[in-house]
Amino acid sequence: MKNKVSKEFEKQFGTTGTLYTAPGRFNLIGEHTDYNGGFVFPGAIDKGIYAMIRPNGTDKVKVVSLDLNDSAEFGLNESDAPEQSWARYIFGVCRETLKRGGKVEGFDAVFAGNVPLGAGLSSSAALESCFANAINDLFNDNTIDKFELARIGQSTEHNYCGVNCGIMDQFASVFGRKDHLMRLDCRSMEFEYFPFKPEGHKLVLVDSRVKHELADSPYNKRRASCERVAKRLGIETLRDADMAMLDAVKTDITAEDYFRAKFVIEEKDRVLAVCDALNRGDYETVGRCMYETHDGLSKDYEVSCEELDFLNDVARECGVTGSRIMGGGFGGCTVNLVKDELYDNFIETVTRKFNERYGHKPEIYPVIVSDGARRLED
Ligand code: GLA
Repeated sequence: MKNKVSKEFEKQFGTTGTLYTAPGRFNLIGEHTDYNGGFVFPGAIDKGIYAMIRPNGTDKVKVVSLDLNDSAEFGLNESDAPEQSWARYIFGVCRETLKRGGKVEGFDAVFAGNVPLGAGLSSSAALESCFANAINDLFNDNTIDKFELARIGQSTEHNYCGVNCGIMDQFASVFGRKDHLMRLDCRSMEFEYFPFKPEGHKLVLVDSRVKHELADSPYNKRRASCERVAKRLGIETLRDADMAMLDAVKTDITAEDYFRAKFVIEEKDRVLAVCDALNRGDYETVGRCMYETHDGLSKDYEVSCEELDFLNDVARECGVTGSRIMGGGFGGCTVNLVKDELYDNFIETVTRKFNERYGHKPEIYPVIVSDGARRLED
């Protein structure tokens, strides 16, 4: 990947630049809790974006996307937004850095990635974090702190890509650490690294290869539901709600909003339960919570789809310890915690049954917990 990117850079720009990378993420538990001020428990994965970048001494950015076989050129003023949606991620990162008083000058870049698109593994956060980190390194002497880099990515989604996402994906992509998960409190932004080596188990993603765009999707509507309920309860976010408070306003809110909020209230407690269980090596509890999350996401939050529910059913049949929808939903992957001795059978069965039912095989990605955004030394 690195070689491919630097070769193309040389071809396009006749010189070399600095290489950067940033990963996608997975999340063990804590879904749709980030924008509700709750907890999340993600880690960075071994798939990411690789970019070679070099300041070009102008006020223009020239970027080539190897995977899309496309290029874009844009200035750094608000009115210079590029047409292509992929280039808007990079433009947004430049603009959000400038808005925060950071420095950005023209640069040439070539990038490519191996995060599957639309699989819920945050390919867009990887792209944002890769460029935010590179701009910090190349133009700002690394003076922008890492939380701000994550926020630059998140604001890019909000202001240039139409997704009102939380902070989890960009946080994980920036702060990821090999073999560690991170429990982040999305209200205080305090976080803790947890060493992660699930003894006797494997963690694997099963990608349904069903893709749904998040912009204009029910994702923003879910967030709006949560905000409506919080407002009705007179609190800032659902982080401060419990079931008794929710039940007290049940008749004043729609049934739909009630079930959305119920899921979030239950999910934020599950993150803490899973962290404790992991510390004790109690994988049965971790797995049970994962199944509960799946059921909540499917029935109460309604972000599942037929294919994801099917994958979850097959996991149960195969005796998988825990399985659930991962990420925003509406397609993408399930994350599965599987005992070593059941692993081969699970992979074989889920691949075969899914193929029989939907006419294509799911992709299988073993989770390898990796480092976050960084410059690559040559
Ligand atoms: C998407 C968003 C995140 C988070 C998850 C659901 O990945 O980008 O901020 O809300 O969905 O947990």
